[in-house]
Amino acid sequence: MSIRVEPVTASRWSSIDFDDLPFGKICSDHMFVIDYKDGTWGEGVIQKLAPFSIHPANLALHYGQSIFEGMKASKHVDGTPLLFRLDRHAARMNASARRMCMPEIPEDIFCDAIRALVDIDRKWIPPGEGSSLYIRPVMFAMDEFIGVRPANEYRMIIFTCPVGPYYSQPVSLLAEDFYVRATPGGVGEAKTAGNYAASLYPAQVAKERGYDQVMWMDPYKFKYVQEVGTMNIFFVMNGKVYTPDLNGAILHGITRDSILYLLKDWGYEVIEKPLSIKKILKSYKKGLLQEVFGTGTAAVVSAVYKVGVRGVEMHLNPDTYKIAPALKEHIEGLRKGVIEDKLGWIERVESTIATVI
Ligand code: COI
Repeated sequence: MSIRVEPVTASRWSSIDFDDLPFGKICSDHMFVIDYKDGTWGEGVIQKLAPFSIHPANLALHYGQSIFEGMKASKHVDGTPLLFRLDRHAARMNASARRMCMPEIPEDIFCDAIRALVDIDRKWIPPGEGSSLYIRPVMFAMDEFIGVRPANEYRMIIFTCPVGPYYSQPVSLLAEDFYVRATPGGVGEAKTAGNYAASLYPAQVAKERGYDQVMWMDPYKFKYVQEVGTMNIFFVMNGKVYTPDLNGAILHGITRDSILYLLKDWGYEVIEKPLSIKKILKSYKKGLLQEVFGTGTAAVVSAVYKVGVRGVEMHLNPDTYKIAPALKEHIEGLRKGVIEDKLGWIERVESTIATVI
């Protein structure tokens, strides 16, 4: 697919303080835009990042037909932008699209758009440790109609943000015992806007109670761990690594998948099945709970220092963690090209579009 490129005439790049990059607040110069109409995707354009107008009856605003992805471009030590598991993100975007009754985006359009966007804004990849260019594809309904049905018209936009770490410190989690994130058969597996909207109020309540994030539990009895709103979750107990299995209600994390592969490759026993909070508490009481950490594109590998469960607090010391820091170092090493990419997870973005300074 050919992409029309309309470069900006003056970049904002030199006005950015790359030492101060709060997550998601600063956007780079360009965005990719493509519209779906009459059953087909039109021409993709890379243009200046700018607001656009939405009709008051926009169907996505009312009924939430909106999906997104999150991935990162990093910089190889030789300066070349690197992408991590782009094919998996394209596949997950389309899995979300199917669940939300939206059109799939051909993988070559999705991937070529990201390559071109990262290429043109390559200067925006921040150099700092743990920093990267976060890539946000988002697709939403564009029909001007307030009846409840799938839209006929859609727009997909991809834009990028230079970011520092999502969590710069270890986090605390509260095991939820009232609100639910997702149930098998629901939309928990889809990266759809509503999942995040639904998590906001419980997250606010958890914050008021002194926790950074909610740890979601099964929707029936609140006995089994699901995930954290921003990441998948792992527990190391007595040398073995546990994570909940993908049961239809949990996001198929691409970092989660990469970590499962690495752990198995490194010889760890990994248990991927329903994980009860009772087992975790028992292990904690016996002194066998060694590490708790979350994984995600934004979060990478983030240590957890406290988990609250119905009035009981499990306190952990991330300074003693071994597995989580090794995984983080490995993923970041792959992303910088200092660790050999034996699995074909990394793609180099060669320069084909002149950049504007
Ligand atoms: C990501 O990890 O890319 C996400 O989409 C999670 C979001 C909370 C930033």
